[in-house]
Amino acid sequence: GPLVIALDGPSGSGKSSVSRQVASRLGLAYLDTGAMYRAATWWCVRNEVDLADQSAVAALVAAMPLDIGVDPAGPTVHVDGVDIAEAIRDSTISTAVSAVATNLDVRAELRRRQREIIDVERTAGFSGGSGVVAEGRDITTVVAPDADVRVLLTASEEARLARRSLDVHGDADASSVEATRDQVVRRDRDDSTVSQFLVAADGVVTVDSSDLDFEQTVQAVLEVVER
Ligand code: CDP
Repeated sequence: GPLVIALDGPSGSGKSSVSRQVASRLGLAYLDTGAMYRAATWWCVRNEVDLADQSAVAALVAAMPLDIGVDPAGPTVHVDGVDIAEAIRDSTISTAVSAVATNLDVRAELRRRQREIIDVERTAGFSGGSGVVAEGRDITTVVAPDADVRVLLTASEEARLARRSLDVHGDADASSVEATRDQVVRRDRDDSTVSQFLVAADGVVTVDSSDLDFEQTVQAVLEVVER
């Protein structure tokens, strides 16, 4: 039957690339819920709303024409027909995203859309009903607590900073890691009110990727799936 895999983890745990690869190998759809919070943030910035204005932000996001493509070979993000896949990785969005993601009405709206996408992939959709790997901060606990497989991908702070530094700066030199540290530590703290992503909930299997390379991490997750 259809397989729903929920995978949570903090910044730099490798959850996006690992989830995408697992989805590819298993013929499942890939849902990046972080991209949805980033898209919501991009939409608010584009509409010049004050991010502290909770009800204005919530109203905008409720009407956001978001189209998220779930093919793991090439996930896409469009809002109002605009391809924003690159724009949402910009540091201005990374800095602002927690303010939008901590808005409870925004969370309710995006969770509703996430469950809708998961349901579609469970019955038809891109995967032809095979299922989906959904990744984020609250998928194992709130969005899909009934998923067939639930994984928390963790890593030491040093490993996470090195990975994020490679993503953002193209290297993991001491100065790049330091430049990354502030952003990552601040976002962890800003996110901590809504996502207790550092602690595995009951029934969630923890995979620690600190000492694993990419392929080993993919294998570790696939082993959890096969249990
Ligand atoms: O860049 P990184 O992989 O750390 O994060 P992301 O997965 O792109 O998510 C960006 C932001 O969206 C997070 O820092 C959270 O503020 C928010 N988010 C969330 O609140 N809940 C989710 N399920 C996914 C992301």
